[in-house]
Amino acid sequence: MSELSVNHLLGIKYLTEQDIELIFETADHFKEVINRAIKKVPTLRDITIANIFFENSTRTKLSFELAEKRLSADVINFSAGQSSVKKGETLIDTVNNILSMKVDMVVMRHPNPGAGIFLSRHVKAAIINAGDGAHEHPTQALLDTFSIRERLGGVSGKKVVIVGDILHSRVALSNIFALKLQGAEVKVCGPRTLLPKHIESLGVGVETDLRKALNWCDVANMLRIQNERMEFSYFPTTREYSQQYGINRSLLESLDKEIVIMHPGPINRGVEITSDVADSDQSIILDQVENGVAIRMAVIYLLASKIK
Ligand code: CP
Repeated sequence: MSELSVNHLLGIKYLTEQDIELIFETADHFKEVINRAIKKVPTLRDITIANIFFENSTRTKLSFELAEKRLSADVINFSAGQSSVKKGETLIDTVNNILSMKVDMVVMRHPNPGAGIFLSRHVKAAIINAGDGAHEHPTQALLDTFSIRERLGGVSGKKVVIVGDILHSRVALSNIFALKLQGAEVKVCGPRTLLPKHIESLGVGVETDLRKALNWCDVANMLRIQNERMEFSYFPTTREYSQQYGINRSLLESLDKEIVIMHPGPINRGVEITSDVADSDQSIILDQVENGVAIRMAVIYLLASKIK
């Protein structure tokens, strides 16, 4: 297969296993490119990309911008906080104004679930979802599973536990879809209050005992508590959460086997993960960030090749 089955990247839910294979093969190539002395290719010299972010971001925003520049695309950046959105402009008007400047592709982060899907139906550009509320974060799941493949030689048959605030996490949902599509076994672990009802219907196991979950898995993906999406408290105190669902060196060393530790960032050190775990050899957190650039180059390149 030489092209994606989709014209937008709105969620992992819309991809096939073959799409993910193609993205990974393309990312393998771009990872080699970005580790050369000359890290830039002229591939997308005719393409203009707008990064529009209605929510804060460090990794995703910088990673997309770097990926676009490594491909020689023209790039414009838009942050909602400094824009006319504050004066009441609608999302469609904002994006159509940007598109009238001859933009081919929009990378958007938005607090509303489905914002990218809505946009793809109303504007004439390829849309990449860079995180829509608590719904999906597809490029994060692609870079996460690419990083598992790199560290463990594959994703199929691997046991992965996603730990923490599953209820408010777009990373969890996209990871579940991506891992299942690639044949991994998946469990979620956290306090009952932070596990969505009926999560088992996605084909994942549920475990509320962190030690048991860690002894079962090959990989633990530790998630942050998303305080910004909580209207009330889901657990008694941060200290108690950390004691029951945080990972630290002594817990890691007491397990039956050596596991791989992941985290999408930003990390709350001392809450869901201690520094001696985050910075250890078992952690692939910075590999995930490095792989994010290659994955985003692959996604942009493959979607750009479908623009008529
Ligand atoms: N992992 C992730 O989405 O991080 P940012 O919010 O910093 O982009």
